[in-house]
Amino acid sequence: MYYDYFKGGAEDQYSLDENIKGFQRIMLRPRVLLDVKNINMSTNLLGYDLHSPIIVAPTGSHKLAHPEGEIATARAAASCNSIMVLSFSSTCTLEEVASSCNAIRFFQLYVYRRRDVTESIVKRAERSGFKAIVLTVDTPRLGRREADIKNKMIIPKVANYELLSVDINSKDGSNLEAFADETFDPSLSWKDIQWLKSITALPILLKGVLTGEDARKAVEAGVSGIIVSNHGARQLDYSPAPISVVEEVVQAVSEAIPVLLDGGVRRGTDVFKALALGAKAVMIGRPVVFGLAAQGGNGVRKVIEMLNGELELTMALAGCSTVKEITRSHVQTLGGRLR
Ligand code: FNR
Repeated sequence: MYYDYFKGGAEDQYSLDENIKGFQRIMLRPRVLLDVKNINMSTNLLGYDLHSPIIVAPTGSHKLAHPEGEIATARAAASCNSIMVLSFSSTCTLEEVASSCNAIRFFQLYVYRRRDVTESIVKRAERSGFKAIVLTVDTPRLGRREADIKNKMIIPKVANYELLSVDINSKDGSNLEAFADETFDPSLSWKDIQWLKSITALPILLKGVLTGEDARKAVEAGVSGIIVSNHGARQLDYSPAPISVVEEVVQAVSEAIPVLLDGGVRRGTDVFKALALGAKAVMIGRPVVFGLAAQGGNGVRKVIEMLNGELELTMALAGCSTVKEITRSHVQTLGGRLR
């Protein structure tokens, strides 16, 4: 049941497949005879220096993968000098994760019908030293994840949520769906970004933007970054693979704010392709959870290190010694199409 929850996507899982295939439709254009003795993958995101442009996406319920849960993930990300985005549906409280290690962390938020709860969680994140709010905007309702429905998936208690008293028992279907539909605010709209800005001084990144139109609105709304994402294909099936639309989003924001991407990043070559199309960094979801399930924090560290190693090798073989040198001319799309 838990494996299905971590692995699965929505409905036909067409987008889940596309998230991988989208990367496979892009080929590399390596350049030769360039000095690649020293490869520097470091980058800067919202003023924070990172060892590489690979960060940990927010994924829920880590204790279903390993008893140490998000604390193990956070420590592993810190040991790699990466950023962890802590999910709202964490099985450790944000205070526990914050005090477990010294690292840069962002907090992922959904906006709840009860705005007082939202506000108190944002304030707690701010007090605990989280450096940004990642507002997920692709989940006015939960996508139809048929494996969870069939399994009558029971999510564990959401640690950050004791203020909400919602009956999350569900006789038919997944209780995650019941929980989300009871608590998330489906009326959330662009004007609410101003409200969120009024209750926090932290920079806000919007996660789940997939079009140039929305990217322009995000810039107008004054957010500090965009994450091109289809929620790991768990929300709207037949939404495009993020890698196939990242360039459209990057062009729409014309360098006003950083654009990140997640969904289907499994190889260093995938990271390279995302950067070539203009992404500032990528986030990884399932590989982190699977590493955690296999070997706890060591497994997470291994996943990040493997991707770092692959990116470093890709950069060397493609003739790029810094991430700034990775440009649009280093990729070609099959048949000139990304989609
Ligand atoms: C997610 N994702 C997610 N996103 C979010 O904003 N809040 C959340 O609580 C969760 N929870 C969650 C649980 C699980 C098990 C998965 C697999 C994903 C989506 C996540 O942040 C990210 O967008 C995708 O996981 C990226 O795709 P890959 O790397 O899993 O292909």
